[in-house]
Formats: sequence, structure tokens, C-alpha cells
Amino acid sequence: MSRAEVIKQPDESWWKEAVVYQIYPRSFNDSDGDGVGDIPGITEKVEYLDSLGVDVVWLCPVYDSPNHDNGYDIRDYRSILDEFGTMADWEALLDALHARDIRLIMDLVVNHTSNEHDWFQRSRQRDGEYEDYYIWRDGSPDEPPNNWESVFGGPAWTYDDDRKQWYLHLFDENQPDLNWRNPDVREDIKEMITWWLDKGIDGFRMDAINFISKTDGLPDGDLDEQLVGHQHYAHGPHIHDYLQEIYDDTLANYDAMTVAEMGGTSIPQAAEYLVEGQSGLDMVFQFNHMSVDEGSDGQWTLDEWGEWDLTEFKEIVTDAQGELATTFWDALFLGNHDLPRIVSRFGDDGAYHEESAKLIATFLLTLRGTPYIYQGEEFGMTNVEFDSLNQIDDVMTIGKVEELFETGSIDSFEEARGLVNYWSRDHARTPMQWSDAPNAGFTDREPWLEVNDNYHDINAETALADEDSIWHHYRSLIDLRHEMDTLVYGTYELLLPDHEQLYAYIRTLDEEQLLVVLNWSDEPAMFRTGIETNDTEVLLSNYESSPDSPLEREFRPYEAVVYRL
Ligand code: GLC
Repeated sequence: MSRAEVIKQPDESWWKEAVVYQIYPRSFNDSDGDGVGDIPGITEKVEYLDSLGVDVVWLCPVYDSPNHDNGYDIRDYRSILDEFGTMADWEALLDALHARDIRLIMDLVVNHTSNEHDWFQRSRQRDGEYEDYYIWRDGSPDEPPNNWESVFGGPAWTYDDDRKQWYLHLFDENQPDLNWRNPDVREDIKEMITWWLDKGIDGFRMDAINFISKTDGLPDGDLDEQLVGHQHYAHGPHIHDYLQEIYDDTLANYDAMTVAEMGGTSIPQAAEYLVEGQSGLDMVFQFNHMSVDEGSDGQWTLDEWGEWDLTEFKEIVTDAQGELATTFWDALFLGNHDLPRIVSRFGDDGAYHEESAKLIATFLLTLRGTPYIYQGEEFGMTNVEFDSLNQIDDVMTIGKVEELFETGSIDSFEEARGLVNYWSRDHARTPMQWSDAPNAGFTDREPWLEVNDNYHDINAETALADEDSIWHHYRSLIDLRHEMDTLVYGTYELLLPDHEQLYAYIRTLDEEQLLVVLNWSDEPAMFRTGIETNDTEVLLSNYESSPDSPLEREFRPYEAVVYRL
């Protein structure tokens, strides 16, 4: 059997061996009956997280915020949003997690702040040292300084009547971009990072961090770019210097992990950030494998979405499992708070709900890199159906649909219905389905966002009670990963690259070899390869019985098996 070339065995570290669980606090668990999830609600569920076996929690923003973008618009980096609780509640959560050996990483949102942040309020008044904290430009009120577009739709500039200047916002108009060229901004950010690290956290997920450095002079972007201006703000001229400075002055002094969110980043580009001495990052969330079902103009392309091809997906994942994951390390994910539910997207949330959710789990937890599970994925939460824009809270969906109306691309919601129901970030944000109780046990009152009505069948309590459930499959895979170094540090070798239904690979470490075979389709598929093996053992399967030998056998719809060769 051919063995994948071992390029370099990276040093072992806790964050490489960890399984991370992402919590979107607003939708996780409401402890005080106001319809909004909160921090004591998370603390109540620490035992649940421990029983699942995860090692790290990534907590989405819990800082004080006016919530235009559900916390990604921060008003005060050092205080907790009232709706979520108090700093004492947050400290109690950290203690409860640490008491069970679960680490905590916080969301670091420093490309922008809220326009209600004190820095912005002072900046718009040209208040002394804060004058240059944001990116301000002159210009007549009818003509933005350049043609850049906001990620959420519409222009990336808003005219401020107080200061009589335009300010840049790559996201919503309530999220002005910080001016990273200003060393005082960087000093303030570093102080804040140190302040949180000193409180005992274990690292950060860095939001939209590849956008912090913009091209000198802010030139117009090419009009044929998917997002006009992107070429001038993604991976800008000083990005590596800024990140390395942050690392050297803060993170380097702590045993902390970092994972950087970098949309629109190629796999080689992502790897550049992991070179020692270049940025100080541990992992990058790159989105290439999550773009296979986009239209020609990105996610929000009318009438073009949802088509994807397993061979293309395999090629992209295999590419990332190469240098990125082998010389460095990969961040493995299929869902998050910005993406549709993975079982609805790449699985089958109807006839093969259980099988396909387990297949997805098998895939996520047997690749090389650190896996990130998004809340609810562990028992197969699905998308919902939105019938109108009134049911949507997400600032991005609303912005994108408004843009379609404004450009005359649509005249009614119906024309964008398919698109919205494919991409809306609210699919991931419907409340956690804890049980069959009213509002899925998430809250006693009306929840801030409607609960998916399939909660009677799909919920944590039911899943926990059934030994064969998706939840227990996650649990078993996490255990297996903890037990077998090969699943963590082994090399990855793809088999059958052109097979349109089967995704199969071998993980190798020293003398141990594991084979993963996934039939990523709703039709049976024959597994035929040149591999030779006498003694194989099934370590885990999502069907009741899977024969010991994988060779020359038909894999059933969405069958997923891990073998020891
Ligand atoms: C990231 C976050 C997303 C947020 C955006 C602006 O992409 O994941 O939720 O809206 O940054 O902060």
C-alpha cells in the first residue's frame, strides 16, 4: 500500500488534540425567561458539554452591544451585555468550564466596533486622540470616496452628518472599521486582549481578521470582483505585521490558541499566516470547501445556488489536507453561526437525516486538523423555512435582499425565497432544541427567533436517551479521536478521487492505518480500490452492522465506516 509522504510531523499541542464546540449565546439556553439565551444558561449546560466530550468552547460575542449584528458590533469590549448577564456570571462560566477541563476561547472582533462605542462617538466629534481611530474621508454627501461594497450589501461608506465626512464600514453601517494604521488603536486593542487573557481565557477566534489592513489611498476596486474593493482590504499590505505585533506583545506570553476567520482566502494564502514568525496564528478558518455550492457571483447569486459536486469538494478538502494541514494545521468545520445547517446543506434532512448527519460527523472528526462542532449539529438540527422577510433577524440576509430590490433584480420576496432559504444565517441561529417541551426547552417565554417546529423529534433529550442517535455517534467519534493519535496526527491520503459517491481516505501514523469510507449519496455504491489488506476491523459505523472487510462491497446510502487496516 502506498503511504502518504510524511512532510513534517508538527509538534504536539493541546489545541491540535482538542475538539471545539461553538456556542452562539443568544440561541443556546435562556435561564431567565426573557426569550434570549444567556451566560447562566450556558453554565447550566456545562455538564452537557462535558458529557459530549468536547475540550474547548468558542463563545461568540457576549460583550456589551446594541446588537445590530448580534454582538459583532461591540460597544464596550470589557463589559458583558445586560441581556446575557454580568461579569460575575461570565467568571462563573469560566470556572465551571475549567473545573471540567474545558477551555474557553472568546471572539475577538477588532476589524470594527459598534458606532455606539465611545471611540467612535469621540472620533465623530474629532475629539483629540480619537480623531483618527476610524477610516474617515472627505467628499460630497452624494458621492462615496470609492466604489467599495459592504459584505452585507450596499456601499461600504456612510456619510456622518456630525463630522461631515464619510466613514468606512466593510460590514453594516453600524460597524465602522477601525483604523489599524493608527498605533494608538493597536495599543488599545493589545491592552484589551491582555486584559481578557489575564482573566484566564484560553485563546481567541479572530473575527474577519484578514480585513484589518487596507491598501494605501483606498483605490477603487475592479468592478468585476465578487465584492468590489475586496482586493484592497483582504490581506492588505500590513496584515502580517499587525498580527505579529499583536502576537508578540500579548499572546506570546500565554498558553493560548488562536483561530482566525478569513473569508475569501485561498488555501496557500491561509498557510502563509501559519509560517512561524509571520503572524503568530495557530489556525485559519478558510472557506474554500464551503463555497462549492455558491453561484458564479458568490453566495447571494439569484437562481444559482445549491449545486455541488463531491469530486470538487474532495479536491478542495484534499488540497487543504496537504501543506496547510500537514506542514501547519487546519481548522475543520462544516457549520457555524453564519452558515446554513450542514445536514440540510450537504446531507439529507429527510429520508436519510440520521445516516447523513452521522456521515458528516464521521468526516468532520476523522480529518487532520482541529474539528469545530457548531451547537445543535451534534443531534442533527436542520434548516427552517422562511416565508417572509419579517421572520428574519439577520442583518446580512436583510441587507442582501434589500440590495436585490434596489438593483431591480427582484420585485417580491417570492423571487428571492429560494436564495434566502438556502443561505440565511438565521438557519443556524434558531434556538437550540433541548427537548420536546414548549419552545424546545430553550425558554419559558417567546423566543427572540422562532424555534424550528421539528423540535418534537429532533432535540438533545431524545438524542441522549437513544444509544444509536446522532449525538452518541458524535460522542463515540470524539472518544475515538481522543484515543487514537492517528486520527489527530496521522497523514491523509485520498482514495478514488473521481468517484462521484464515495469519499474514502487513509490516515497513517507510524505502523497504524485507518481507512474511512463515506458513501456521500442516497444510492448504494461499490467500493473497489487497489488496496490490499487481510485483517480489517470496523471501529465505528453508522449502520447497525457493517462487514469487517471494506473490499468489493456495496456501501449503503450515506453509510460511513471507520476501519483499522
Ligand atoms: C464575521 C462573523 C459574522 C459577523 C461579521 C462581522 O464574519 O462571523 O457573524 O457578522 O464577521 O463582524
